[in-house]
Amino acid sequence: MRVALLGGTGDIGEGLALRWARETDHEIVVGSRKAEKAADKAAEYEAELADRGLDREVAGLPNEAAAKGADLVVLSVPPQYAADTVEGIAEALAEDAILVSPAVGMTRDEDGFHYNPPPNADSVTEYVAEAAPDRVSVVGAFHNISANRLADLDEDLDADILVLGGEKDEDAKETVRDLTRAIPGLRPVDAGPLSNAHEVEGITPLLINIAMHNDDMSHVGVTFH
Ligand SMILES: NC(=O)c1ccc[n+]([C@@H]2O[C@H](COP(=O)([O-])OP(=O)(O)OC[C@H]3O[C@@H](n4cnc5c(N)ncnc54)[C@H](OP(=O)(O)O)[C@@H]3O)[C@@H](O)[C@H]2O)c1
Repeated sequence: MRVALLGGTGDIGEGLALRWARETDHEIVVGSRKAEKAADKAAEYEAELADRGLDREVAGLPNEAAAKGADLVVLSVPPQYAADTVEGIAEALAEDAILVSPAVGMTRDEDGFHYNPPPNADSVTEYVAEAAPDRVSVVGAFHNISANRLADLDEDLDADILVLGGEKDEDAKETVRDLTRAIPGLRPVDAGPLSNAHEVEGITPLLINIAMHNDDMSHVGVTFH
């Protein structure tokens, strides 16, 4: 499977690229608005894996080229650019591509972080789904995992990943659940349709506020028992 991480040069993209390159045989492609930045970051990820004795290939391409032919595309860009990024690469998306949105809208004030959905949608995930072509499946996932924790390959993970998607996209959700299970320590948990994304995304500012107020919880995530 070809997995493209648009904006994979950033924090969550780095964590997912490193983990999937280490744990799977999938073709991992880092996307960027700039070709050189994509190539440099991909080389950096390969070098990090090589330092651990792992011979892995990670490609780096401009976002549109990264998305072309990808089976699964992760929109690892800040929420305010997610819809524009989808529209910019829409024509390159394969007929049955899966688009994964981990984006969370937040504001910050003196009290901490607060959930802030886009003006015309209940959640960023639904906003992304509206911007995406009808032929692709949109799945929400990875909203509540710390990117720093993912990117630190010495960290043992222990977190649930809430996966969102409609009934018609059940196969796409299963693919995302499989990719989640491929990372040791992550357990996919079905959180229902995209209309539940508001609640899932809203957990993230809570986690960040907890991390800010508790020195030993800097990488806090969610687990359900
Ligand atoms: N950080 C976390 O712990 C975390 C956890 C869960 C979910 N998330 C979500 O994941 C998404 C990415 O978060 P992040 O922390 O990885 O973000 P980030 O590091 O700030 O940015 C990721 C990438 O987005 C691209 N980008 C920046 N401005 C852009 C623009 N105007 N248009 C298109 N692309 C742009 C950049 O790539 P290029 O310059 O290479 O194009 C950048 O490297 C966010 O939506 C966030 O809510 C983050």
